Amino acid sequence: MAILIKGGTVVTAEGERRADVLIEGERIAAVGPALDTPAGARVIDAGGAYVMPGGIDPHTHMELPFMGTTTSEDFFTGTSAAVAGGTTTIIDFAIPNPGQSLLEAYRSWRGWAEKAVADYTFHVAVTWWSEKVGEEMGVLCRDHGVNSFKHFMAYKGAIMADDEVLVNSFRRAAELGALCTVHAENGELVVQLQRQIYESGVTGPEGHPQSRPPMVEGEAAHRATRLAEALNVPVYIVHNSCIEALDAITRARLAGQIVFGEVLAQHLVIDDSVYYQRDWNAAAHYVMSPPFRSKEHQAALWRGLQAGMLHTTATDHCCFCTEQKRMGFGDFRKIPNGTGGVEDRMAVLWTHGVRTGKLSPSEFVAATSTNAARIFNLYPHKGTISAGADADVVIWDPDGTRIISKDTHHQNIDFNIYEGMSCTGIPAVTLSRGRVVWQNGQLDVVRGAGRYVDRPCFAPFWASQNTRNVSRKPVKVER
Ligand code: URP
Ligand code: ZN
Ligand code: ZN
Repeated sequence: MAILIKGGTVVTAEGERRADVLIEGERIAAVGPALDTPAGARVIDAGGAYVMPGGIDPHTHMELPFMGTTTSEDFFTGTSAAVAGGTTTIIDFAIPNPGQSLLEAYRSWRGWAEKAVADYTFHVAVTWWSEKVGEEMGVLCRDHGVNSFKHFMAYKGAIMADDEVLVNSFRRAAELGALCTVHAENGELVVQLQRQIYESGVTGPEGHPQSRPPMVEGEAAHRATRLAEALNVPVYIVHNSCIEALDAITRARLAGQIVFGEVLAQHLVIDDSVYYQRDWNAAAHYVMSPPFRSKEHQAALWRGLQAGMLHTTATDHCCFCTEQKRMGFGDFRKIPNGTGGVEDRMAVLWTHGVRTGKLSPSEFVAATSTNAARIFNLYPHKGTISAGADADVVIWDPDGTRIISKDTHHQNIDFNIYEGMSCTGIPAVTLSRGRVVWQNGQLDVVRGAGRYVDRPCFAPFWASQNTRNVSRKPVKVER
């Protein structure tokens, strides 16, 4: 049955216009003023609402085995919560253990994700190096639609990529036309600062931000962008949380590098005071890396987003329940790192970004959907409202309100980092590939209806572009 979304204001990254949207099957068939209603079509009245591309969250961790436990949110509950919040595509991470085949890890994650209710795709992490890893990167690009590889510069002794891994992987990605993504924190500094702080007697969650100050992130962000410059490869830095990381991106972009930055909704609105509350459980729920920062960093992140130095908003949705967080009672180093928010990202960003005048509705669409689609090569199937695109659509009620709470959210976690936050601007209806999956505050999802989305590699054009780097032709003097 066709669906006609009537009377709304269509918002894309390019602008706003009054238009109807006709959906046939899984795709958008037409966008235009006063479209005819096909016989038998269901009509959804979008008067007074915005009609926008479904959100794309480029950074989630469903069912992630991490720090001795596994995230409480699986692909079914996580994508259900996502669509309740207007997000219709997630980019999750397949993360091999050091020594493990990338393809094997990728296949595990593909299997786990089969229960998803909305579309998904994967970055694959490079956690170690060998010739086989390089070959498997090629297979993932060629046969499996993986065009981005993740590098954790932190988590020493587990999944950290040292400089040797980074350089080899960046080089290989440049050959393949793949995008390198990076968690920028200096893993060695973290370990040494953690030890120092723990041995000084600070054992609670407040030790977490103290062992990961902004320069720890800044060093790694600068190193990553410099390595990318040397090797002529674009780089995408995930979850930038501080001025120092933003500086690295800004410097590189002003020098002409292809560098992209992601910011998490929570880093924009929550500050580091959360670690200093008396309630251990509550403080532990904010333990994530990089940590929450002071308000001056938050203000800089908003400016970075407004100025085009940060491009995407994500959640790093990585849920651990209280019982799991308590694995680190007595030693903050053992608190599983991660927070939730896949359901809340868009409402938080609308409330604190659009309603405050920091972002226009079009900029909101760019930051929550289109930019991720473009950067990770999902566009124009995703990230826009136009004929031929997947019918991943959110009908956004700018006046609708919601008070965020763990008691009413759909996320599988017993805590919400935004507890009590009042949001104005919420998804009234979400469609995933032409199916209404959220309406009137109710989910109507089908386990397994989500599909894996291929993301073809980019042309490896940049290898020839830059002559200022270590890849330029060696100069030999004939004597
Ligand atoms: O604390 C976090 N961010 N946990 C998830 C893993 C990561 O670093 O992205
Ligand atoms: Zn990370
Ligand atoms: Zn993450």
